[in-house]
Amino acid sequence: MAEEILRITGGQKLRGEITVQGAKNSALPIMAASMLCSGETVLHNVPRLTDVYAASRILNHLGLRCKMEQTTAVIDPAGISETEIPDADMRAMRSSIMFLGPMLGRLKQCVLTMPGGCELGPRPIDLHLDAMRQMGVQIREAQGKIICTAEHLHGARIPLPIPSVGATENIIMAAVLADGETVLTNAAREPEIADLGAFLNQCGAKISGAGEGTVTVSGTASLHGTEYTVMPDRIAAFTWLCACACAGGTLCLRGAVPRDMESSLSVLRASGCRLGICRDRIYLDGGQPLRSVRYIRTMPHPGFPTDAQALIGAVLCTAHGTSMIEETVFESRYKHVGELLRMGADIRVSGRTAVITGVPALHGADVCAMDLRGGAALACAAAGAEGESILRGLPHLDRGYDGFTETFNSIGGIAKRMAISTPNREKNGPRKQKC
Ligand code: UD1
Repeated sequence: MAEEILRITGGQKLRGEITVQGAKNSALPIMAASMLCSGETVLHNVPRLTDVYAASRILNHLGLRCKMEQTTAVIDPAGISETEIPDADMRAMRSSIMFLGPMLGRLKQCVLTMPGGCELGPRPIDLHLDAMRQMGVQIREAQGKIICTAEHLHGARIPLPIPSVGATENIIMAAVLADGETVLTNAAREPEIADLGAFLNQCGAKISGAGEGTVTVSGTASLHGTEYTVMPDRIAAFTWLCACACAGGTLCLRGAVPRDMESSLSVLRASGCRLGICRDRIYLDGGQPLRSVRYIRTMPHPGFPTDAQALIGAVLCTAHGTSMIEETVFESRYKHVGELLRMGADIRVSGRTAVITGVPALHGADVCAMDLRGGAALACAAAGAEGESILRGLPHLDRGYDGFTETFNSIGGIAKRMAISTPNREKNGPRKQKC
């Protein structure tokens, strides 16, 4: 069997400009929301990712026509008819749950199974289902399927126990075509929610406060299609900054939204990187020695993003002193740490806390991505390490980065993606964990 690997030659300073790709976490719910429209939706700046292709497959399965050409998706909802998402598509990614709200809004029925996605500890969907119940949806389980029916989908006052991003988005998408008003409190405030709200409002929805703690939605009878440009990806942007912080050099990111990245940029600054911001550009000068950051705590937006935790961890591996990270959003988000240890990092994990003691340098190693951002963190670490690294588990990277290898090489990195046959892998010795 063949497996693709990325050979990364470390120690090359990164220099140049990158235009930030469209946001995965915005494109996916917006694609799902397009089924709420009665006319065609044209989406620009949609990143070419396996998760996006999975969303496109689900739309096509439901009877819509979704065509992707480069970074533009054209979605025609005319043929929508199917009310069940196949189990294989549900398992393909966590964001398959994003179809729940729009399917109930549009079709008043939705049959699905538990979503898959990165294994970051338990990722239940109880908040999504509880909110749908409050909006008049009957939910029952049969033969492993979750069967949701909404004879009368109505607005409701929904206080979320925790600000879940996905639940906030599902509630908004269900509410736009529901009867009456929905008021959602303790809503998640991630910028991608504001982007979803802006898209839906452009289609004729009446949403106020998307991206804030209280969201109000007045249901309307129908939405029309529109043409919309997906916002830039703040986590992909942060990834390239971290790659440059690890490897050294100077980088300019174009098309970023610095105000959405304040907490992560301030931590990079604290680690000794010089940053410059001018409108939609972020400049990083990675020439200075890196310093430890005493304490980083992941939090819902506007706190430090859990999706950036592994990335900053890779930077801090070679920072002078000891840094501490506390992961409060997901239970199990340190799967990449074992791989960083193979590169010579000094990290101790206890429960949700990681203590990173900086070492003078990392060395290249044979490592495997266990999840999307952990995989990107390994690539950043490899960019700054001495010698060559082999990164496996590339399907994880392909879920979130549009042309990772090409982008990395365009700024002076040296990475080669290649297929190898699996028997070669055995020569590298047994792995502790299945990749
Ligand atoms: C989204 C992002 C993901 C990011 C995460 C947190 C997308 C496609 N994915 O994921 O990249 O890491 O936000 O910023 O936008 N929870 C429950 N019950 C639920 C739902 C969530 O207990 O029904 C818990 C989760 O287990 C987790 C926390 O709430 O501990 C936050 O999860 P949530 O904000 O829902 O994350 P996602 O929407 O899955």
